Amino acid sequence: MKFFVDTADIADIKEMADTGLLDGVTTNPSLIAKSGRDFMEVTKEICDLVDGPVSAEVVALDHETMMKEAETLRKIADNVCIKVPLTIDGLKTCKKLTSDGTKVNVTLCFSANQALLAAKAGATFVSPFVGRHDDNGLDGMELIADIRRIYDNYDFGTEILVASIRNPVHVLKSALIGADVATMPPAVIKGLFKHILTDKGIEGFVADWEKTGQTIPTS
Ligand code: E4P
Repeated sequence: MKFFVDTADIADIKEMADTGLLDGVTTNPSLIAKSGRDFMEVTKEICDLVDGPVSAEVVALDHETMMKEAETLRKIADNVCIKVPLTIDGLKTCKKLTSDGTKVNVTLCFSANQALLAAKAGATFVSPFVGRHDDNGLDGMELIADIRRIYDNYDFGTEILVASIRNPVHVLKSALIGADVATMPPAVIKGLFKHILTDKGIEGFVADWEKTGQTIPTS
């Protein structure tokens, strides 16, 4: 499963990229607003930091303007992935862009039928929002399982990019279902490394090693 980080914060992206485990980045208009940075400028910086796809979202609601915005965004770098909302205009834009070879992430997906439409429109990625689904009394992971089944039934190449992830359990369940990508806030990625028994184990090994009075030569 690929790991994307869901942020427009450069320091966080650098930190995650340094682990060597980062496969891409997703942003959205709210994350850009939170960064306080110029959209074009920060997107270019992110694209220079990671080799994988960097989702940059159009803000227009009509197909014609979405296409014009996408034209500007895809000039930023080769690894820009155009993010469009799951609407009729968004999917028209998706179809057009992917036919030209541009990567497209269809966002704000909340039903398996919507995911089916995104795949038919040739989306590179579909982003079902599990956290927001759960917030509304529904089961986000059930949605991921349904989409996986539908995509496998018809051999769709669209990758399931699990979004709105709130905790490591969302990541675990996504991996068990066979989702292709998980996009996570930096805190959730960091949470994946943690286990109390790992910390306790290190503590014990360090204490016992000190008793030996030895060192491992490092040069
Ligand atoms: C993904 O592409 C979205 O930007 C993101 O995961 C939304 O998450 P939220 O529901 O926590 O805002």
